[in-house]
Amino acid sequence: MRFDTVIRNGTVVTATDTYAGDIGITNGTITAMAQSLPAEAAGKSIDAAGMLVMPGGIDVHTHLDMPFGGTTSADDFQSGTIAAAYGGTTTLIDFAIQQKGQSLRQAFDTWMKKADQKAAIDYAFHCIITDLGDAQMEEMGALVGEGVSSFKLFMAYPGLLMVDDATIFRAMSQAAKYGGLICMHAENGGAIDVIVRRALGEGKRAPKYHALTRPTTAEAEATGRAIALAEMAGAPVYIVHLSCNDALERVREARDRGLPAYAETCPQYLFLSLEQMDAPGFEGAKYVFTPPLREKWHQEKLWQGLAHDTLQVVSTDHCPFCYKEQKELGKDDFTKIPNGGPGIEHRLSLLYTGGVHGGRFSPNRFVQLVATAPAKLFGLFPRKGTLAVGSDADVVVFDPNQEQTISAATHHMRVDYSMFEGIRVKGVPQSVLSRGKTIVEGGRFVGKAGSGEFLRRQPYSGI
Ligand code: URP
Ligand code: ZN
Ligand code: ZN
Repeated sequence: MRFDTVIRNGTVVTATDTYAGDIGITNGTITAMAQSLPAEAAGKSIDAAGMLVMPGGIDVHTHLDMPFGGTTSADDFQSGTIAAAYGGTTTLIDFAIQQKGQSLRQAFDTWMKKADQKAAIDYAFHCIITDLGDAQMEEMGALVGEGVSSFKLFMAYPGLLMVDDATIFRAMSQAAKYGGLICMHAENGGAIDVIVRRALGEGKRAPKYHALTRPTTAEAEATGRAIALAEMAGAPVYIVHLSCNDALERVREARDRGLPAYAETCPQYLFLSLEQMDAPGFEGAKYVFTPPLREKWHQEKLWQGLAHDTLQVVSTDHCPFCYKEQKELGKDDFTKIPNGGPGIEHRLSLLYTGGVHGGRFSPNRFVQLVATAPAKLFGLFPRKGTLAVGSDADVVVFDPNQEQTISAATHHMRVDYSMFEGIRVKGVPQSVLSRGKTIVEGGRFVGKAGSGEFLRRQPYSGI
């Protein structure tokens, strides 16, 4: 058999196995995995001696080219997917937002246009539902059939994105019927709104009040409510960007009862804390996102949650706004700071550093968290999320010992600061392949904008 590419001499790491082996790739697909493949059988050879060879990362929570707070997130589908590729992510799932009064299809079409000819890695969409009439209820089934098999609902941002419990329950019932998965932004938006108004009335306008007006109890209450509504609807539920121990406890209780409740966290909640909000001047605005940063002790609880499978996924919630001109929109009022932070590029390196080098879990668990569980939960497995004969050749050749200091001066995201500035990581992608084509090599992007394909995902079928 002849291969377009063979990756040789590496240590193959999947969610379940670790072994020395070669990988043969033909027409973008893995066609052989063996202890050794013949040298003469390959068009191109990649020597992975000393490297880990892992499935490409899947980031199931990004916001590229997203209008928010009177501006638009700074990375579009070109710059954002290139930055993702540098970091070893080869698939992302972004959010198509339904404006009030729109059909779900209009939202999907709008985001398909945003990604077309721009994405450098493969992509899919969740649909954010803000307005659920009878017509949109029917559309949920149609969208699942077209590969948009998950929907995000907001329990926060009243007047903008928030939906009430009846809407959540209806959406969950419909998701259960059609094989959809509801992704939930779980914060009690009504209570938070009251606390925010109170703070503004007391003249508290600095960025740190964004965090101080969104208590962990508001997240825990909404998490518990989302799970209860899902249980009543007979539906699975996936809690997005879980930030604190209180909410983690709600997920743990549900899972202990055998409910299909899942949750993700993000590197910002594992590496950063409330102290960041005390940065000088207006700089706390760099860390204004929701849920907000928490007291430092929550971090270790989240790491434990990842190790013990209370949390199944690490995503980024990449939603970048430049400090100059965009974050500054809220210079005099924290409620006007666009919510979101940049992170698409460093998810793998950060998680490998804190998780594997930090002695908290194995390289296999790392692969499970960044690739395999996301693929399974969101209907991409086994095409994506593992290294197996028949899977897409989305591969990361990863040096577990290379060190790097994260900085806005060297990152590739189109944003003028890094949330992780100065953090030293150990574990960096060397080469990245997307469907068999090398897209990152020798620290350079060598792929092509527009070569990413839309992925029609399967309905939810568990993990
Ligand atoms: O602050 C955040 N997280 N911005 C993005 C929107 C969301 O809620 O995920
Ligand atoms: Zn959210
Ligand atoms: Zn988000």
